[in-house]
Amino acid sequence: MRILVIGAGGREHALAWKLAQSSEVTQIYCIPGNGGTANMPKCLNVSLTLNDFEGMLRFAQVQGVSLTVIGPELPLAQGIVDLFQGAGMAVFGPTQQGARIESSKAWAKELMQSAGIPTAKFAIFRDPATATAYLHRCSLPIVIKADGLAGGKGVTVAETLEVAIAAVESLFGGQLGTAGETVVIEDFLIGEELSVLAVTDGKTIRPLLPARDRKRIGEGDTGANTGGMGAFAPSPIVTPALMAKIQSQILEPTLDALSTQGITYKGCLYAGLMIDPQGNPSVVEFNCRFGDPETQALMPLLATPLEQILLASTEGRLEQLPPIQWHDQAAVCVVIAAPGYPDRPETGQMISGIGKAESTGATVFHSGTRLKNNQLITSGGRVLSVTAVGQNLPEAKAKAYQAVSHIYFDGMQYRRDIV
Ligand code: AMP
Ligand code: GLY
Repeated sequence: MRILVIGAGGREHALAWKLAQSSEVTQIYCIPGNGGTANMPKCLNVSLTLNDFEGMLRFAQVQGVSLTVIGPELPLAQGIVDLFQGAGMAVFGPTQQGARIESSKAWAKELMQSAGIPTAKFAIFRDPATATAYLHRCSLPIVIKADGLAGGKGVTVAETLEVAIAAVESLFGGQLGTAGETVVIEDFLIGEELSVLAVTDGKTIRPLLPARDRKRIGEGDTGANTGGMGAFAPSPIVTPALMAKIQSQILEPTLDALSTQGITYKGCLYAGLMIDPQGNPSVVEFNCRFGDPETQALMPLLATPLEQILLASTEGRLEQLPPIQWHDQAAVCVVIAAPGYPDRPETGQMISGIGKAESTGATVFHSGTRLKNNQLITSGGRVLSVTAVGQNLPEAKAKAYQAVSHIYFDGMQYRRDIV
């Protein structure tokens, strides 16, 4: 089998890494890939750009690719799956309509409301005056969200009315372009966050192991929101009873609600959840793709060959797939980010110590790296995702940080409290 993975992050490296372990997979192409996928056996980076949909389709057809896996949300929201499906190619991911569950938070909230799926109370606004008047009637903290895709920068959790109003004004002022033309204001939820990534073929939905990501830049979950500074799995707060609630109250009703809208959602449905102190889940957000860095923590724990799961989704036969198997272990992923991340990441630093880090048994997934004259340099905000597996979370954590201690580049930053 030849598989094409589209994307350039740690998530795509982890997906390609897992796919490469299967004897059924002979060749993986990554568009555009990164410094990690460039060095991986069975894997070839292809230098096409992520917006060249026609070029990617032609490449997949010419190379006889049997499955294309779309990593990031932007191409999904722009309809890459529709193009590939229209050409009769097997592709993992939802169509443009399905991707609205992430690309429009207002649409997703209305879908949840119509289906009775637990989520924070909300209101939708298209002008600053009405939004500000509403804010005056809200209790604090309050959450302000850009409707559209904002690369993790679209959400403000406001502790004061001034911050809330400033967030509304900046969104309507065009700070995030068209993504902020519509604004969702929602109540603040308390509890523990949880990421449940589930694979679906539109009829059956199978959750992966529950994971937790750490989005804030600072230790103790402080400071700015980022794309994710680390993740671990499985989450120890999850009981079989909670997973059953997530399945029956959230995952299945969401699939039904999508289907009522005429959408057969195939791919990964990522439910970002808040678990309240009584153990009840509500949806904070949906994503239309695998999470980053959750995927880097999940792939090393997955025992079932990944391509079997992805093909069962694209071919609509997930119900017949035997239960997904996992190693009875835990994984911790620590993200190492560039200086200045998340506001103004500096790139171009030389990276050293990856070989030593991997000799400890950890896996170093690359996010923002590239090869320049055979030297690995930083090329993005999040640079590396260092993942270790252990018998339990404390052991996995100790191993992950031992591996991190071997890695160096100027100004590198990482949280020391992942888990
Ligand atoms: P989102 O992009 O919608 O997942 O929001 C980013 C982060 O903001 C989430 O992971 C939460 O930490 C926080 N957040 C978003 N919405 C809420 C909410 N309604 N209540 C509490 N925290 C929230
Ligand atoms: N880990 C958060 C995300 O993938 O959006």
